[in-house]
Amino acid sequence: MVPGVGACNPCNPCAAASPCNPCNPCAAANPCNPCNPCAAANPCNPCAAANPCNPCGACNPCNPCAAGGDDVELSGAQAKAAYACIRASLKSGYAKSGNQWVKSYQSWTNYATQPYISDTHGGRFVNNYANARGSNYGLYENAGPAPEGTVLAKDSFSVKPNGKVGAGPMFLMEKMAAGFSSDSQDWRYTLIMPNGQVFGTTGGKNSDKVGFCAECHAVVEDQDSRFYLDEAYRRK
Ligand code: HEC
Repeated sequence: MVPGVGACNPCNPCAAASPCNPCNPCAAANPCNPCNPCAAANPCNPCAAANPCNPCGACNPCNPCAAGGDDVELSGAQAKAAYACIRASLKSGYAKSGNQWVKSYQSWTNYATQPYISDTHGGRFVNNYANARGSNYGLYENAGPAPEGTVLAKDSFSVKPNGKVGAGPMFLMEKMAAGFSSDSQDWRYTLIMPNGQVFGTTGGKNSDKVGFCAECHAVVEDQDSRFYLDEAYRRK
């Protein structure tokens, strides 16, 4: 059993059957959550002395004050549950950038059947969305070039052994008009931090900071810079 994500861990953020999980680390950020720990009258108040999940309890294995560790490995169901927990706050964080795509990307097709760990994107759990214009992504190695207007969006999050789910950056690729950038096969790479700060964007602010995206993606130049995800996680 992976530490922190055990079925009997009261703070298991993946315990889908427990929407009222008082230790749900995502609950605090959600004002509509019935388990909002700030609601004084809330029966799920994690600070209630009698609450076995009291995060303030010194011997609580889920104590959020305990030093974090490496990301954990999750089963497919656990990874999906962790994502369900954080997806709304990912979107609202990225939206502070004003980027036009972050408002809608979660309604696009997600070509990942579950969030998976991507070593090349910070070792975080990631998804792979494509807009309708970019739907040939789903043909994978047989796709041919991406049409102009294709947008690929990869959001990300981390999960610590104590069950804490944290927001990670958004990785965006947009296929621009021919001639936009010969260094990147006309893709515009954008890295948006969880708080909405734009780390860099090809041809725009801090373009040099995202040069490494195009450099690595150029390895698959013959696939129009798209790597595609591991077959095990591909939507067919
Ligand atoms: C060291 C190599 C490397 C770097 C650097 C890198 N990527 Fe990727 N990228 C990959 C690989 C491999 C995949 C496919 C597997 C995966 O998701 O991990 C991928 C997938 C993607 C995808 C989904 C489309 C596809 O290619 O299948 C997007 C979007 C993306 N990366 C954006 C970015 C952005 C934006 C940056 C820079 C901030 C970046 N990547 C940096 C290797 C890299």
